[in-house]
Order: sequence, then structure tokens, then C-alpha cells
Amino acid sequence: MRPISRRNALLIGGLGATATVAGGAGLWWSLASGPPQGAGPGQGAGPGQPAGPASSSDFRSPAEVRSADGRLEVTLAAAPGKVELGGLQAGALCYNGTVPGPTLRLRPGDELNVSLINNLGEPTNLHVHGLHVSPQGNADNPFVAVLPGQGFDYRYRLPADHPPGVYWYHPHHHGMVAGQIFAGLFGAIIVEDPESIPVSTERVLLVSDTTLDSSGNIATVSLMERMAGREGDLLLLNGQSNPVLSARPGDRERWRVVNTCVARFLRLRLDGQRMQLLGMDSGRSPDPEPVDELLLAPGNRADLLVTAAAGETLLQAIPYDRGGMPGMMGRRRTPAGGAVALATFRADGESAAAAAAVASRPAPEDLRTAAVAARRQLVLAMGAGPGGRGGGMGAMMQFSINGREYDEVRTDTTVALGTVEEWTLVNTSPMDHPFHLHVWPMQLIDDNGRAPASVVVRDVVNIRANGRATVRIAFRDFSGRSVYHCHILDHEDLGMMGVIEVR
Ligand code: C2O
Ligand code: CU
Ligand code: CU
Repeated sequence: MRPISRRNALLIGGLGATATVAGGAGLWWSLASGPPQGAGPGQGAGPGQPAGPASSSDFRSPAEVRSADGRLEVTLAAAPGKVELGGLQAGALCYNGTVPGPTLRLRPGDELNVSLINNLGEPTNLHVHGLHVSPQGNADNPFVAVLPGQGFDYRYRLPADHPPGVYWYHPHHHGMVAGQIFAGLFGAIIVEDPESIPVSTERVLLVSDTTLDSSGNIATVSLMERMAGREGDLLLLNGQSNPVLSARPGDRERWRVVNTCVARFLRLRLDGQRMQLLGMDSGRSPDPEPVDELLLAPGNRADLLVTAAAGETLLQAIPYDRGGMPGMMGRRRTPAGGAVALATFRADGESAAAAAAVASRPAPEDLRTAAVAARRQLVLAMGAGPGGRGGGMGAMMQFSINGREYDEVRTDTTVALGTVEEWTLVNTSPMDHPFHLHVWPMQLIDDNGRAPASVVVRDVVNIRANGRATVRIAFRDFSGRSVYHCHILDHEDLGMMGVIEVR
């Protein structure tokens, strides 16, 4: 294992005098200036608002940085900042002053160096979600803690055959993950295709949700909401409410969609337009697959082609029932019933020439025929925790995997490097849990009794309420310790996470 370098340099004034941070997961701070215009109750896409806030602004892409000559060096400074979220002035947490942070564009074989600077009032760190890179040392090591005022140099080396696709980065300091992402700390990572696909435009669409309090700061959430998995009142696309995406009829665009929401599932529709799925999470299917609807669990990504038909269409998030704990946790804050408009897609003007066909890709490796070295069962459970025996309203739920809450010192699963394993993921609770494994992608073998017809590779696999799924994982390369967890990040912060060591 390479030594971990810690730096104390590059700190410019920490949080400053105008901000205070309360500890724990109740991430909150107040800025000296007064409440922003229009941040009061009733504004934004809160409960009771009609679906689809008026589209007001043109779509904005996050800033981009791109690797050159096999490397990308970037500084990400995490700090509180004032930004516009859904048209409102918000006190958020930002990478480099923006929400989302910059998009990192890489190629297979590249080296990525990220200099993370922590100007928050609490610990943080960085995770490159979905990248197939080493979990050790200064690479994608979830056990690193970067304290306030400190920095850390991450160094990731992508294998030469790294799958192309859409990935993302976010903090991963246990106990604070949900709060920091909810407050604005996330950004996209794109691994480019070996040969590019002809499109008129490529867009990065980071979907997030958050809630602002009456002062425009990110709202605190209750323990009840954390147990349910917090869902924000504002549903945002690159920090905007229902922006307008403009195209010409016939244009073929590529959309890189990331569900960065802490707990909200996105069931997306773009009725009247032609959507084709190039891939989900990592890699590409051999040919683009036509889709009408897409379900992205928290953490999932979609790589989409959209061919424009003349007219105006809403990109909508329609309701999805992920279960709950009636009587114990109350209802979730999801706006009751209706769909929410994420964006307005407008195609007008002169028609574009039809785009060239997309070349087929070789089929990915199929682990269904692989020799399996070990079979395991992981049980994701919610139950009355210590002191919660009565199950009353104040009871603390325990979020566990195989009966144990997360302990970073304990190794729960030890895997032999070079082998393929089969894991059965069992959910004994009345809520969905999207299961995520770092570093090593999972091939879905069975989803609640249904076997996919083709090779389906994911790094977040949703385990339905009281359901189960079976996956196979090739631990061919990268030894070291890492984690798996529920990607309802409140559940992860509350203990639904385990440690894996590959050696
Ligand atoms: Cu995106 Cu361990 O998570
Ligand atoms: Cu991850
Ligand atoms: Cu969960």
C-alpha cells in the first residue's frame, strides 16, 4: 500500500467569520446576509405546487476539464458558498464555488490527480463512484478522512481497458455523506468512448434534490426523514429548475444523466421523443436500445441518445413507490402524486440531417458462464435498534447488513483476488435499498425471480422491498479494502454499509 500524503497547506481562512457549522449530520450554517428574495414557503416545487415550475432559464452545463496527454490534474476545493439553486439564492456547499462541481473528462488509461481541499467546517473526502480503480492508499480509498483546513492528493490510474461511460464524484465520509451531497457536493466524470458517436450536442445532466429553509440555507432534516431517506422539495437539473434545452428537429443529442439524489428514485420519461440507451452505470451495450422510461436509483447513471422530434416536451420524473415504514417513519416528503418537470426539451427550426448509425460494440463478458469461487448472502435489514425495542415513534431504527452496523475497523467480506463470486442480496425490509459496491461492477443474474435476457452490468442494483437480487462479480484486479452499502445515503450514514477486502 502506498503511503498516504496529508497536506496542511493551501488553506485560505477556513470557513470565515460569517459562517457557523453545527456538528453531526444536521449540516447547517447561516450566512450573514438576509433571506434571499422568494425563498419563503410556497416558492419552488414544494408539496402542493403544480408539477413543473415555469421554465425560465436556458440549460447550463457544468464547467468541464479534460485530460491531455494521459493525465488530468484538478483541484477541488469544498467550501460553503452562495449559489443560485432553482432560481433562488442559496447557501450551499460547493466544489470550486459551483453546484454541481466541474465535469472531469477522461480517457481509458489516464491518470487523474485530484487535489482535494477541505474548507468545510467538518471532515470530508472524495469518492469516484463507479470508476474501476484501486481502492488503496491515495486512490479511491473510502477510509481517508480529510479534516477541516486540510488537503489530500488523490491519484487514480484508470486501466487501459476501462469501460467508457458516465461516473461521478462525491464525498464519502461516513456519517456525513447524505448531508454533504444534499448541500451540493457532487460532479460528473465522463470516460470517453474509444471511437466517438456522432451527435449534434452532448449534455451532462446532474439531477439532484434539496430543501432550502426560510433563510435560503440548506434545510436540516429530522431523524425520521433520514430513516426514510431524505427527499428534497427542489428537484434540480445542474442546479436549475426546469431549464430549456433547445434543439432542431432531427438532431441527435447525447445525454449523460446522473441521479445524485440522496434517496429519490428517478423514473424518467420524455414522451414523444426518441430515447435510446447506450449504457447504464458503466460500459456500453452492443447496440443502442430504444427506451420509453428509465428508472435510476440513487447513484445510477444513464448514457442516452435523444433524437429530437419537432415540438416541446417535458423531461418528467414520474412517481415511483420505494416503500416505507408506515406508522414508524411517517410519510416521505415527496410531492404527493404528480410528476415533476426536470427540463423542457424544445425542438424547432429547420430540420437537421439524420445522424449516422451508431457502430455496434462487442458484447461485454458474460459472467453467467464463469466458474463461481464463492457464494454469499447479504441481508439488508431495518429493525429496532438498541433501546428501540418498543418500536415507538422515538425508537432508533438499526440499518444493518447481515445483522451488523458499519464498523470501519471490521472486515465483513474477504474475497480471493482473481475469482468470480455470486452474491445474493436479500432485503427483509418494506423499503427498497439500492445496493452499491465500490470498484468492482456487478452483473445482474436474477432480479426478484427474473433473469435478464442480456448482460446487465451495474454498480448500483436496486433490491426491492422484501425482494432479492443475485449478482456476479469478477474480482480480477485491484486488491485492497473498500465498501458496499445502500445508496440511500442516509441509510449508509446510519450503518447500512460493510467492508470488503480483496486479497
Ligand atoms: Cu456513490 Cu459509496 O458511493
Ligand atoms: Cu461508489
Ligand atoms: Cu437503504
